[in-house]
Amino acid sequence: MTTVTLHRSDALGVITLDNPPVNALSREVRAGLLARLQEALADDGIKTLVISCAGRTFVAGADIREFDLPLQEPHLPEVLGAVEASPKPVIAALHGTVLGGGLELALACHHRIAVTGTTFALPEVSLGLIPGAGGTQRLPRLVGAPLALDMIVGGARLDAGAALAAGLIDGLGQGEPLALAQTFMHEHPRLERRPTGERHLAPFDLEAFEAQARVLLRKLPGQEAPVQALEALRGAWQLPLSEAMQRERDLFVARRESAQARALRHVFFAERALAGRNRALAKAAPPVELQQVAVIGAGLMGSGIALCLANAGIRTILIDTQAQALERGRATIDSYFSGALAKGRLTAEQASARAALIRCAIDLAAVAEVDLVIEAVFEDLAVKQEVFRQLDRLARPGAILATNTSYLDIDAIAAVTGRPEAVIGMHFFSPAQVMRLLEVVRIRTVAPAVLATAVQLGERLGKTTVAVGNCHGFVGNRLLAVREREATLLVEEGAAPEQVDRVLRDFGFAMGPFELRDLAGIDIAWRNRQGRGEALSAAERACDLIEQLHAAGRLGQKSGAGYYRYEPGQRQGQADPAVAELLAAHRQRRSIIPRSHSDKEILERCLFVMINEAAWLLEEGIVKQAADIDLVWLHGYGFPRYRGGLLYYADDRGLAHIVSTLEGWSDALTERGTEICPRLRQLAAEGRRFLDA
Ligand code: 3HC
Repeated sequence: MTTVTLHRSDALGVITLDNPPVNALSREVRAGLLARLQEALADDGIKTLVISCAGRTFVAGADIREFDLPLQEPHLPEVLGAVEASPKPVIAALHGTVLGGGLELALACHHRIAVTGTTFALPEVSLGLIPGAGGTQRLPRLVGAPLALDMIVGGARLDAGAALAAGLIDGLGQGEPLALAQTFMHEHPRLERRPTGERHLAPFDLEAFEAQARVLLRKLPGQEAPVQALEALRGAWQLPLSEAMQRERDLFVARRESAQARALRHVFFAERALAGRNRALAKAAPPVELQQVAVIGAGLMGSGIALCLANAGIRTILIDTQAQALERGRATIDSYFSGALAKGRLTAEQASARAALIRCAIDLAAVAEVDLVIEAVFEDLAVKQEVFRQLDRLARPGAILATNTSYLDIDAIAAVTGRPEAVIGMHFFSPAQVMRLLEVVRIRTVAPAVLATAVQLGERLGKTTVAVGNCHGFVGNRLLAVREREATLLVEEGAAPEQVDRVLRDFGFAMGPFELRDLAGIDIAWRNRQGRGEALSAAERACDLIEQLHAAGRLGQKSGAGYYRYEPGQRQGQADPAVAELLAAHRQRRSIIPRSHSDKEILERCLFVMINEAAWLLEEGIVKQAADIDLVWLHGYGFPRYRGGLLYYADDRGLAHIVSTLEGWSDALTERGTEICPRLRQLAAEGRRFLDA
């Protein structure tokens, strides 16, 4: 229940906001705050005011759920204007995460004190917005324009110590926020009003500021909000305060309705809904407690997984039966921790404590000590089955056996063990210690507690953990495979790899399909195609560019050439005339007359076949929630967050348009061994959307 109360204690009036879980500034809270403020101002006995919050945090922002509704009075800038104009001094007593509108409320108060551990940020740009209640004007007046730039445009977060040093807060201590406010008042018996808006902006180097702004914006390509946040911030020295406030508000109101902000809100709530479903899994079947975990295979993937586990404080045994591989794994781990130390991300104590959590072992028998094993050996079914036979023999009864396979049939792996209920997929993405996504692959036989354990572990590792069903490539790689197939067919028809990559980069991906293929390795794709054999459609088999590149020794970045040519030490590829020749010869052999493709056709072909495949994933029950498909591609494959995800994009484009476009290619789809998914047709026919279904 939401309440805003005023409590009087001698000459102090304490306004307490209570709107669980994060005290968002809903209409009710804004109205309550304004009403209690007016009461406090009318009470002659009250000389000083404190604003604080009940529960786990001070206000964490405006209420995001209201952003899809019309604006409702009282508006936040007016409420905060009234706070700042208070003739009695107002102190903000802060704890938890003081974010967005919450920080703007604190800025409108005359003094700010915080509990140790409090963090501060204006994360509006991550929601496609800009601060809308004075943040772009009051923050620079307190902390200076350069730091305000990092926070408002770059979304930088400050811890309490940094906030004190920057002048954002006036006091910091342990204990209850209200008690800290009282101590602050005793220490400052003649506390006065000190409206932030009346302060002068400290002089700063405008040229250095603009250079820093360019650096920040380059890191956020395609996003509109940071550009507009910068424009609002510039008002702090370009305009009188009231005009700058109005400009900020106008920009905020327009952004609230923008396509990017709507897409980013979808992602915000999809992420929270996933976390909620994952918590429900653990409630339904309590997870196994994990004291120690083993990782099998000390390659880049295995070492990366071991790092994730150690970073989450879990004792880990990294096992590889090849001494050299184990040594390389240890070296990878050591260099990660020395790098984290050098960059100041970890203290020496933290780095050595975490490194000490990883023990290396050469004998598979070490798995007898652990509760969960994650296998990360060579991607080959027979090899993995052999490892699982041994694990089944050596691991203690009840221990969970997970495989990190990215394509293979996990039912077939589980079938060689005597514990198919304890076998599960945990598909990490490379480099595992960096990438946010984890696909947990449930097979038919898996026990609910085993699924809950793997999902809970993923959450503990800080991963976006999505439970999916078992099929070739699961969710992420199955969609990747259809995009790669389509991209390759486009090139076979006449498009240049550079054009296809540019179109997808322009859409917002960090790299295009061919750049990605060169990074991941032509040999990996080659092995995959060999493994699929008869499962390849005639069109896919005939389009054998991967085999040709492989035969030419062009394995991608690792060999200095793939679809592109790489100068030594360079990760940015150059278009290669040798590839153009290879393509021309291939087309001639196949009697294909090359044609040109518009950027629109390239984009639609690459994305629409993925949307169709996503519909099949839903149809087959591989994934239950359409939003989970969005999250897999956002966190594992760099789908641009400001476009909301693959199926959000599909809904936005309109499913009827997508179906009619796919119908135009229906012969080609049949040649590729696929067809338009009935679910997609039905949603389109009924005028429905993936995300509402
Ligand atoms: N509005 C509405 N609901 C919110 C919310 C907000 N600002 N912030 C969090 N919630 C909800 C979540 O949806 C979730 O709901 P659920 O339990 O029903 O799923 C619940 O609060 C708890 O959130 P989390 O699961 O994320 O809890 P955590 O403890 O992990 O994180 C948090 C808490 C750090 C506050 C995180 O929720 C967060 O970052 N929230 C968004 C903060 C933000 O972006 N604020 C700026 C809003 S825009 C703004 O203020 C505009 C202004 O300038 C006018």
